[in-house]
Amino acid sequence: MRIYTFWVLLVCIAIPGKETFSRSFRPVKFSQAMVVAPEPYAADIGADVLQKGGNAVDAAVAVGFALAVTYPQAGNIGGGGFIIYRDADNDVYALDYREKAPLKAGRNMYLDEEGNILENASLLGYLAGGVPGTVAGLWKIHRKFGKLEWIQLLQPAIELAEQGFIIDEYLAGALRAYAEDFARFPSSRKIFLKEGPDSLYKEGDRFIQKDLAATLKRIARQGADGFYKGKTALLFEQDMQKNGGLITREDLNRYEAVWRDPIEIDYRGYKVHSMPLPSSGGIVLAQILNGVEPYDLQALGHNSADHIRVFTEIARFAYADRARFLGDMDFVDVPVEKLISKPYTRKRIARINWFGAGDSDSLLSMNQLTGESPQTTHFSIVDRWGNAVSSTYTINGNFGSKVVIEGTGVLLNNEMDDFSVKPGVPNMFGLLGNEANAIEPEKRMLSSMTPSIVTRNDSLFMVIGSPGGSRIITTVAQVISNVIDFGMNIRQAIEAPRFHHQWQPDVIFLEDSGFSRDTENLLKIRGYKLQKMRTIGIANGLMRANHSKNWQGWADPRGNGKVNGY
Ligand code: GLY
Repeated sequence: MRIYTFWVLLVCIAIPGKETFSRSFRPVKFSQAMVVAPEPYAADIGADVLQKGGNAVDAAVAVGFALAVTYPQAGNIGGGGFIIYRDADNDVYALDYREKAPLKAGRNMYLDEEGNILENASLLGYLAGGVPGTVAGLWKIHRKFGKLEWIQLLQPAIELAEQGFIIDEYLAGALRAYAEDFARFPSSRKIFLKEGPDSLYKEGDRFIQKDLAATLKRIARQGADGFYKGKTALLFEQDMQKNGGLITREDLNRYEAVWRDPIEIDYRGYKVHSMPLPSSGGIVLAQILNGVEPYDLQALGHNSADHIRVFTEIARFAYADRARFLGDMDFVDVPVEKLISKPYTRKRIARINWFGAGDSDSLLSMNQLTGESPQTTHFSIVDRWGNAVSSTYTINGNFGSKVVIEGTGVLLNNEMDDFSVKPGVPNMFGLLGNEANAIEPEKRMLSSMTPSIVTRNDSLFMVIGSPGGSRIITTVAQVISNVIDFGMNIRQAIEAPRFHHQWQPDVIFLEDSGFSRDTENLLKIRGYKLQKMRTIGIANGLMRANHSKNWQGWADPRGNGKVNGY
């Protein structure tokens, strides 16, 4: 700690004064209620529900189902996720609707006889899917907090699936990028590719999903049973059996979404409520915010080399702890209270050598590799009563396993890859895990999703979250810090260039544009390895600035989202 104090003093002397960010880049504002969603149809549907008297949970249900139709890259009913919900009385709830491993799954299911990983088996095809949780999650939260009729909330999604919608440039590009994968699976080919010589959907084409509309109608009529029982479950089991998948009707029947205790983080007078295990999001976020709290980040300068170093060294040990300790607490013991306590983080900080780059191998020794993929998606909602939903859900990779379950229109997730398929070998995000996150029947795979709600003096302050795999947590941490430490509005905080470090690989990832050559050189001189990345995260958030009557929202321009409200 003494070394560090010396270092910070030096920095403060070198860069005196505080930064105040110009407020000229304006976010979208509404006085009553707001939806920030990753896709425009869904944002409009959510805002319409709010305007018709629905609350934040009603809007979340409508947005969640709409995205399953209009944003098949990540919106889903064939995946899972998490919700942080804060009601107008300031009670905060965490809902876990994460996928789980099928009953027939086992720890070596992705290994050959020699113990080598079967390439792509946890990523592509029928074996990659966990038992989906999204329908159970949306059903459960609606039963407890919803105000409008369930059936009414699914209607917009059903219409979009049945009558189709116009494909935009963003979806056309995504469908083109994954055309080869869709072609491998007949049930996917017939939905995501056209018949005839030019099979690619283009911007401006109408996209109709009749099977998905029929499944949504069953869910609209029967609630969660319309997915987990009856015809949908039967179609699921039949297609799985035909194609070597493991999910059975029993798996679907037994699936349950679970209320958990949110992780609470005190950060400079604000309270951040975030997701507990099986997401690592809240715990790692707590470690990062607890870690940066003693530092005067403004004095270091936003996105200066020193600011990036402070975040990096703290993220290094937080992600090493993630790999070492975290897994589904229904199956393994995790010392959560210790990990999120401020004294624990301060002790870790005291061991950081601030004169050069830290060393990930000496912190915890494991193999390293890297992986890529920014999918998953997030929406933030507030209603006129002050109820708020922060929801991140996913099918893992873009279009999940690329498999559509025959006759259902449902894209299956490839979430099994979030387990440590082989302890010590990284997943698609380059994340390493060990025994705590090994595969077991009915266990939930560790996630990084970090839906979060920030309150101040028991008032709602911010709703935030992001996709981005392992980069979700550092994205959310930076947006929160940009607002609280640097006085940015939600637009500035979301648009600001981002960086990321996750212990292994031992590299600082920097977004392509936004960091000066000088900053990069200062980091390299200190011994850091740098790697450019096109974008990090796609944060969608809203907040109420102190003393303002309006909500301000912003959909990250790294994605294709929209803010709507009234
Ligand atoms: N599939 C990404 C995550 O859950 O973190």
